[in-house]
Amino acid sequence: MTIKDKTLVNINGQILKPEQASVSVFDRGFLYGDSVYEVTMTLDGVPFMVEDHMDRLEKSASKIGLPLPFAREEIVRQLITTVKSLGVKKSYVRIVCTRGAGEITLDPTKEQTGNFILICKELHPNPSHWYDKGVWMVIADVIKKHQRATDPSVKSGNYLNNVMAMAEAKQAGAFDAIMLNHQGMVSEGTTSNIWIVKDGKFITPPLDAGLLGGITRKSLLDLGKNQNLQMSEANFSPEEMKKADEVFLTSTTKEIVPIVKIDDQVIGSGQPGVNTRKLHALYQDLMVKHYKSEKSRLNI
Ligand code: PDD
Repeated sequence: MTIKDKTLVNINGQILKPEQASVSVFDRGFLYGDSVYEVTMTLDGVPFMVEDHMDRLEKSASKIGLPLPFAREEIVRQLITTVKSLGVKKSYVRIVCTRGAGEITLDPTKEQTGNFILICKELHPNPSHWYDKGVWMVIADVIKKHQRATDPSVKSGNYLNNVMAMAEAKQAGAFDAIMLNHQGMVSEGTTSNIWIVKDGKFITPPLDAGLLGGITRKSLLDLGKNQNLQMSEANFSPEEMKKADEVFLTSTTKEIVPIVKIDDQVIGSGQPGVNTRKLHALYQDLMVKHYKSEKSRLNI
């Protein structure tokens, strides 16, 4: 295994080099994807939207009855300490909590100690062509799981569904895939939320379309309210999406990426749209303000 970026791993409070970092092969996260996770990032050691990520981590864990090994304050403290040791300008942070290692059995009620893993690695700027030229997505044949199966609102370590959708995208030579739900409506990307712009209105599928409530998605919905933008949560079909004026995806690390082609359909002018660019600029202002206020709140 070679990891090219500067990386540190924290396992249950111990900071380790990546080559020293390992967990048991009996860990249920490895055996069954029986874990929850979050992805955030830091700038100058300040974590981004950390309370929202902790809210979602706690919600995911509670939905699958997984006890978190540490309290929220301790997780944030470990995150800040590990990132400080890494000593880079920007870092990617993955927080993983598993149900731990034990006898090989599906039964999750056996007494066992969970594992807490933080992976912190240097985060490089995303390629500028994503934002300047936009990206090409495919609609995956594999569909999103029903809420009564592996609930998409839980950010669990079980991502095989999304891995298979990404495999379809790579097979086609595309950037990523958009997934539909069992009703054939748009749900989300493999690790992102999807938005369309139609007649100046921003629309993203509602939570009951079977998706992960993205923190970027929530920030944008709040921003929309504050800035008096026309924004709503509504279902749309893949055909409606392909006829939209603009389409974009959102996620913590990718921010807002314009989608200029879906399958073989060019979206709008085939260039990143003006509304998408405007929203991205507003979001970047919000990020700057957020880092500043978090720096003082967390005393970093
Ligand atoms: N993924 N939908 C899914 C399935 C996701 O995995 C993610 C995030 C999102 C966007 O959520 P947010 O805006 O909170 O990042 C939507 C992270 C980035 C990942 O797994 O790498």
